[in-house]
Amino acid sequence: MSEREYDIVVLGATGFTGQFVAEEVVRVAQKNTDLKYAFAGRNKSKLEATVETAKANTGLDVKAGTIVADVGDEESLVNLAKQTKVVINCVGPYRYYGEQIVTACIKGGANHVDISGEPQYLETMQLKYNKEAEEKKLHIIGACGFDSVPADMGTLFLQENFGGDVNSVEMVVGLDDSSVGTSSINFTTMECAVLGISHSKELKKIRKELFPTPLPKPAFKPKPRGNLFYSEEAKRWCLPNMASDRSVVLRSQRLLYEMENRRPAQFSAFFGMQSMWTGIGGILFGILFFIMTSFSFTRGLLLKHPEIFTFGIFSRKAPEREKLKDLRFCVTLTGTGWDKKLDDPAQQHPEPPSVTKTVKITGPEPGYTACAIVVTQCALTLLQEKDKLPREGGVFPPAAAFLKTSLKDRLEENGINFSVKE
Ligand SMILES: NC(=O)c1ccc[n+]([C@@H]2O[C@H](COP(=O)([O-])OP(=O)(O)OC[C@H]3O[C@@H](n4cnc5c(N)ncnc54)[C@H](OP(=O)(O)O)[C@@H]3O)[C@@H](O)[C@H]2O)c1
Repeated sequence: MSEREYDIVVLGATGFTGQFVAEEVVRVAQKNTDLKYAFAGRNKSKLEATVETAKANTGLDVKAGTIVADVGDEESLVNLAKQTKVVINCVGPYRYYGEQIVTACIKGGANHVDISGEPQYLETMQLKYNKEAEEKKLHIIGACGFDSVPADMGTLFLQENFGGDVNSVEMVVGLDDSSVGTSSINFTTMECAVLGISHSKELKKIRKELFPTPLPKPAFKPKPRGNLFYSEEAKRWCLPNMASDRSVVLRSQRLLYEMENRRPAQFSAFFGMQSMWTGIGGILFGILFFIMTSFSFTRGLLLKHPEIFTFGIFSRKAPEREKLKDLRFCVTLTGTGWDKKLDDPAQQHPEPPSVTKTVKITGPEPGYTACAIVVTQCALTLLQEKDKLPREGGVFPPAAAFLKTSLKDRLEENGINFSVKE
């Protein structure tokens, strides 16, 4: 990559998640002493406060530049992109602000990672900008946060440790047994979810264009699950998980089939709850949330008073750091398949899948602490191992992008653990 003033710029560093990411970049720079980095946002004095908070929270010397850039001002974004090799974009909702930043990165010659959990934005970027990014030799990698690196890299890890072919993967996301306490989630994440549900019908058209050729039809579908079931592997009561992980994993699986001739796995996602009663509560909450997002009047109420209508799960008041510090996540991925591999991934096994294997990914509080670690390691991997990423450039989900890199090892060195359950 050509010489630029910065290696990494964190855009949206003034946001709740952006502050965690900024601090993680400071920690990483402590070990990578030649790393040049800056924090960016639309408000200079807020950026200065981000630097001071990062100093206080990390206890480290913060050698960050600051760049003022507003999503409403294209020139400022292109100017930002021209100064750096990689942009970590933490500005959301991505439905509103993401595309302007992707196009500015392409114009300004910067690679890009983001922490979006919005399938419509992620898939639209792949559809519209994959070719241009490839021509410009830039990697634009979406969903590099807790959504959806554990799911996507975890599926890859399961496939690599399975021995034979994996037919389907069942993922359960929840808090680890060692997790202590609870916390609310920042409002912007809820806003993204509300927008995603209310526009979900638009996805069908995008997918039709993005995936014109069908994948080989699997001969064996996984057994259907009800709305609530107990998973022996995850030791949790499970309910459907409509978040973005499934869309991201399936895109990686498709790309790995197309680029690497690997057999794509089917994938389903669930939330894991400690008890049957919290599971039932989760389903009732999901129904209420879905109904409220479906009508403009109730959607307005939900967005105006998230604390009341989500029973404190989402809040306009930022979460307290103290409440996040003892939380831990656990992602359990159970694969079902065969002990043999067929050479041709389009060929189907004649007998039903009979082997199962489970892997676990565990780490600190998911939404902010783990998210910051994960996206920072993705940015660093892109910076230091760009030659191992596919096709010289393009728009990718994480596992398709980082397949041949050391991302998993880097995550393990930073507290995100991958293990095979014996
Ligand atoms: N994948 C994951 O695991 C994960 C985890 C957490 C969050 N997220 C996602 O990350 C995003 C941010 O969430 P958050 O809770 O940190 O939200 P937040 O606190 O509201 O932060 C939003 C950031 O965007 C900036 N911004 C908004 N409009 C802008 C504009 N016109 N120009 C430049 N910057 C602008 C804000 O700047 P100001 O400070 O100036 O307002 C702020 O820095 C959301 O999309 C959320 O879903 C993903």
